[in-house]
Amino acid sequence: GITRHYKFDIKLQNVTRLCHTKSIVTVNGEFPGPRIVAREGDRLVIKVVNHVQNNITIHWHGIRQIRSGWADGPAYIAQCPIQTGQTYVYNFTVVGQRGTLWWHAHISWLRSTLYGPMVILPKRGVPYPFPQPYKEVPLIFGEWWNADTEAVINQATKTGGGPNVSDAYTINGLPGLLYNCSAKDTFRLSVKPGKTYLLRLINAALNDDLFFSIANHTLTTVDVDAVYVKPFETETIIITPGQTTNVLLKTKPNYPGATFLMMARPYATGSGTFDNSTVAGMLEYQHPKPSTSIKNLPLFKPTLPALNDTSFVANFTNKLRSLANVKYPANVPRNVDKHFFFTVGLGTNPCPKNHTCQGPTNTTMFAAAINNVSFIMPTKALLQSHFSRQSNGVFTTNLPTSPLIPFNYTGTPPNNTNVIDGTKVVSIPFNTSVELVMQGTSILGAESHPLHLHGFNFFVVGQGFGNFDSKKDPAKYNLVDPVERNTVGVPAGGWVAIRFHADNPGVWFMHCHLEVHTSWGLKMAWVVEDGKLPNQKLPPPPADYPKC
Ligand code: C2O
Repeated sequence: GITRHYKFDIKLQNVTRLCHTKSIVTVNGEFPGPRIVAREGDRLVIKVVNHVQNNITIHWHGIRQIRSGWADGPAYIAQCPIQTGQTYVYNFTVVGQRGTLWWHAHISWLRSTLYGPMVILPKRGVPYPFPQPYKEVPLIFGEWWNADTEAVINQATKTGGGPNVSDAYTINGLPGLLYNCSAKDTFRLSVKPGKTYLLRLINAALNDDLFFSIANHTLTTVDVDAVYVKPFETETIIITPGQTTNVLLKTKPNYPGATFLMMARPYATGSGTFDNSTVAGMLEYQHPKPSTSIKNLPLFKPTLPALNDTSFVANFTNKLRSLANVKYPANVPRNVDKHFFFTVGLGTNPCPKNHTCQGPTNTTMFAAAINNVSFIMPTKALLQSHFSRQSNGVFTTNLPTSPLIPFNYTGTPPNNTNVIDGTKVVSIPFNTSVELVMQGTSILGAESHPLHLHGFNFFVVGQGFGNFDSKKDPAKYNLVDPVERNTVGVPAGGWVAIRFHADNPGVWFMHCHLEVHTSWGLKMAWVVEDGKLPNQKLPPPPADYPKC
């Protein structure tokens, strides 16, 4: 591979959407941010210079960061933030991955405007395991707030209530013609008839799983989270925040001048408020000689599943399978060294005295937890504390590995919904083969939680509805061709089982990729100890590693 250099100047930029102008934090003044392109095996050296008042970190979502955890990015987990006027160079190699990933800010809610695609091409001369596309196009879904998102989350944290929802969804930063004032801010994809396009879909929205569909066209899913899958055709895809999906779009042989809408809107099961609006973009067939006669062609609209269509989601995710062939084997852990069972869901914290709260009741604040522990962000970077053996006062390795008091997770919630606060992590030896069952809870409503693991891909060996049954469910696991990915939706009212080899030493964040749930504490970290051999150890941090 080669080394590719990028420079990210973090600076403010005035941007107008929905007839509302605001100053947002950007990379190089671009919104969405610049596209990073690399090939498998390349080294990326990205110099980030912070010219704004906010503390900044950037995360390369889905990059495995093998023995380069110093470049992973989550604030106070992998690094201290890059402060105003400071610079940090993220330096890492793309090992064994090709497909679509993305980058985003990983501190507070700054990823609402700081995000962009990462296109990882196969090694030179290596073809895709599907028809070579005529053209490749990243489509990155986001959310637009007229308000300042830092103010939105700060206000919610203060009152203990839910944050305000966004004003629009976007495709490549554009809300599209269905919103006020936005006809000119519509994403348009101009296509030739009879060609194959590779759409690289990324869900960078803060708080919503999205359905996506293009009128009168079928999509062929070929890759998720930068891992190839067995191709299958679908009208609609479901994509959670954090996930990426590559689809092939075959254009029709003869539709000169026709326009088809593509639309995305949320999948939501919770009882909370959410933005149920729709972003639309246009698929426009080129016309050999544009004339006025084509102006009145109808605009074809796709039909999306209902907002709460959980069975569509389950069907879609069941179809995702690894290639699991000689060229692209699925190295699913067969024997498990350690089993973990995590409940993931909401909960409460008591409202502080002499304080008015707008939580689930006026004496409580919203919280979210794993095994009833709501994660408190440390004030020093966990990775550095771990590396220098100074965990004292920073974190403890006593996160329960199963619920302390089991209950009917998908039935009536317990009377006491309060959580325990702490910076609790799980520590495991190098090369542990891990099975983790994540069980959604119905506390304050059953919701799908997109859990994202840093530093690894995992195999989704099983999923189901209701309570996980440790006697019966493992017998149904798929250990042959399960999908391999970095972010999985724990089904609303159900569970998911994943497996991975802990072959990457360091400290790896795992959290719900719904930003509101992360803020409420649905997060934890895995400490993976060094192995014995030199190439199984985390090297020391780079010289410019930021200080807290
Ligand atoms: Cu895409 Cu920890 O994040």
